[in-house]
Parts: sequence; structure tokens; C-alpha cells
Amino acid sequence: MSEQKSAERGTFGRMGFILAAAGSAIGLGNIWKFPYIAYANDGGSFVLIYLAAILLVGAPIMLAETLIGRRTQQSPVGAFLRLAIEEKVPGGRRWGWLGGLGVFAGLAILSYYAVVAGWVVYYFLHCLRWSFQGFSGDATSLVTEFQGFLANPGLQIGFHGLFMTITVLIVILGVKAGIERTTKFLMPVLLVILLAMVLNSMRSPGFGDAISFLFHVGPIHASGVLEALGHAFFTLSLGMGAMITYGSYVSRGQSIPRAGGVICLLDTLIALMAAVVMFSIIFSVPLAERAGTFGRSSTILFTTLPRMFYDLPAGTLIAPVFYLLVAFAALTSTISLLEVVVAYFIDVREWSRRKASLVVGAIIFLAGIPSALSVGAVGKLTHFQLPGLPEGAQGFFGTVDYLATNWLLPVGGLGIALFAGWVLSSKLTREELEEGHGGRFSLFPVWRFLVRYVCPVAILWILWEVLNGRSFA
Ligand code: TRP
Repeated sequence: MSEQKSAERGTFGRMGFILAAAGSAIGLGNIWKFPYIAYANDGGSFVLIYLAAILLVGAPIMLAETLIGRRTQQSPVGAFLRLAIEEKVPGGRRWGWLGGLGVFAGLAILSYYAVVAGWVVYYFLHCLRWSFQGFSGDATSLVTEFQGFLANPGLQIGFHGLFMTITVLIVILGVKAGIERTTKFLMPVLLVILLAMVLNSMRSPGFGDAISFLFHVGPIHASGVLEALGHAFFTLSLGMGAMITYGSYVSRGQSIPRAGGVICLLDTLIALMAAVVMFSIIFSVPLAERAGTFGRSSTILFTTLPRMFYDLPAGTLIAPVFYLLVAFAALTSTISLLEVVVAYFIDVREWSRRKASLVVGAIIFLAGIPSALSVGAVGKLTHFQLPGLPEGAQGFFGTVDYLATNWLLPVGGLGIALFAGWVLSSKLTREELEEGHGGRFSLFPVWRFLVRYVCPVAILWILWEVLNGRSFA
């Protein structure tokens, strides 16, 4: 690609890639989703398997995606097509379908992700009101209030639309302008606030139980293992080419292994901190009251956390700031999800960025409406359940989330691992991983072993076990 063409596409600055990719990775998956799926899967073993999945499957695929992106300077579909043609790989242009699967997954995930992001914005505004007018919630009223909000079609669609609009506006501006500067400031602040919350939860009576819940070893079902694996992909933004797309904006002077390591580490750290905070709250409440208070554990962020904040000395200040930061964390993720789909229309269909952002944004907004209405507003959508899916995959929202996360992402990840490990030559991948890394990446054989054998075997095995309804109790 010519210098000029790549300047038009945009390139990240030195810290830009790490920040943008960490911004993509760190989002609702860490702060909202990880704590509640860990809770639903009885903590302990689930967390260990999740950590193993990050290290053995997530991290290698993170490097694989980034190297494919930087090598080709293309988003997923174009990237696979280009390598397939230039390297004359077996399978040829059919690899383009793998990119297409990613584009579709991005569309599906963003459609419901923006709905939850909308809840965060709503609670930010809610906290502003509480902070100015005084906090009035108790355990029950917070739950009732949240349920009322979920069942309100206008608010659900409105805040989903608001979040999509903001995302579209930023993506229209292009790669560099807004994202880099915003993330540089926001990510450290988020980390500091979370750290303060962890320190605070150490004083709560539930802290000890929270830690042992998170790290005890117990039985686990095959579906739990699949969920841990699926979430490892989700939380690192892998399996659909988001990191291929961001990788395509990485300069050649940057070390991919180093950047990838930092991103995985930060992401894991933030998920664990969020979980410690939430479980400390859960276990501070006596067992008998727990079920009624928490209802579905996916709602803790909105029903229990506000109360904890307003018990703190500086809660009036911290509460709205916290929700604002979570909203920003979500925003840097929705940007990356939209960017994958938009970059496809720019790179392959040659649309303008403006047209692509507006059209794709509108489609995803519409696609998200059934999800927005399926959390309480419309009974049929709320109780929708595909036969054969687990209980957790209930409702239109839950179904799309389950299928996208647990099937599309692992299958996409499998394809990427096979492509990087078996289809691309070891010379090409080594070159790309060593470029910017001081010319030598001593863990290369380990990386190659993981993508060639460990990733495909682990993913295939888990999918197989789940299809056979197995459990590892
Ligand atoms: N990783 C983000 C989170 O944890 C969500 C996300 C952003 C994502 N981009 C993605 C998930 C691409 C899968 C693929 O909240």
C-alpha cells in the first residue's frame, strides 16, 4: 500500500494502539458482564478457566489478529482476501467468508451492547439527580425502579438510539481524532476509581467470602467452560476481526507482542477488580435477603451499586463519575464494534466513511430495537427462548448475546487460529511479530504452538462437548 493511501486510512500514534485496543477490550464485558456470569457459574472454577482461556487462547489470537491487520492494512474481509491472494494460500478467496462472519458478529453484538450502554447513561443521569436532590433509594425500591426502567419501551429505545448516535458521530470523525485523546485520559481515571472501590470493599463484611467465592475450586459444566471461553473472546474483543481492524492502523515501529500483552493484562485486571467489588456487596447481604434483593444478578450494577456509593463519604461525587466512566468504557468498545463493520464498507465496497457510518449505524440501531424491547417491555420478546439453549439465554436480547458470544466468536477465533497457525507461513508471522520488537521475539515458538494446536483443539473440544450436552462435574 502506498504511503499516501495508508495516511488516508489513518495510523495510531505511539501509545494510540495500546490505548484504543485496551479501550475496545475494556468495557461492559469487564464491569457488567464478567461479574454476573461468574456469579451465575458459581465463581471459582469458572474464573480459573476464564484466566486459562485468556492466557492460552485469547492472548495468542490477539497477536494473530493484530499481525494480520498490520500486515495487510485492511479490515477483516479485505485482510483475508489479500493474504489469500498474495500468499496463494489453500482455500483462496473463500477465507473472505471468515471476515464476513466477523462483520456479522460485530453487527449482532453492537445491536444489544448499545442497549446496555444506554442503561449506563441513564444511570449516570439518575445519579446526578440523586447527588443533587438527595439519595432516596433502599434495596427494594432500587430493584423496582430498575425494572420499571427496563419495561419502558420509550426509554429503552431512546437511550439505545442515543448511544448509537454518539458512537456514529465519533466513528465518522475517523480513527485518530477523538478516540486516542479520550482513552488516554479516561482509562487511568477508571483504574484509579476502581482501585478505590476495591480498597473500600476490603472493609465490608463480605470481602472474605467474595475472595473465596472467586478463587475456590468446584465442579463445572461444559456449558460453563464454553461460557468462559466465549467471554475470553468477548472481553478481549477477539474472534470477529476487531483487532485485525485496529491492527491495520498500527505503525510498523510498534511491537505487537508487547502491546498485546499489556492489553490482555489490563483487561483481566479490571474484570477481576470489578468482580471483587460486586461480590463483596453480594456477600455482605445475608443469604435470605439475597435472592429478593438481587433478582437477576445481571442487574447488580444498577440496583445495588448505587446504594453502596451513597453509603460512602464521597459517594455523592463518586457515583455519577463512576457511571460516566463506565459509559466511556462502553463507548470505546462500541466504537470498535462499529468500526469493524464500517471499515468493511470503506475498504471493500469503497463507500465514504460518512456514508458507511450513517447507514451501518442506522441498521444496527434498528436491529437493536427487538433487544431493547425484550428486557421487560414486550412479553413475547422477553420470554423468547430457542429450544436447546440454556436458561441464561432467555429473551431476544439473551439469545443474540448467547449465540454471538458463545458460538460466533469462538468459531471466528478458530478460523483465525487456523489461518495464522496453519495457512500463513511461519516466516511471514515471525517477521510480523518481530517487526518493531527489536527484531527478535523469543516466545515465537510458544506462540506458534498455541495457535496451531492449543487454540484449535481447545475450541473444537469445547464446542463438541457442548453439542453433546456434557458436563465436567
Ligand atoms: N470487549 C468489549 C467488552 O468487554 C466488547 C467488544 C468491543 C467486543 N469490541 C468487540 C467484543 C469486538 C467482541 C468483539 O465490553
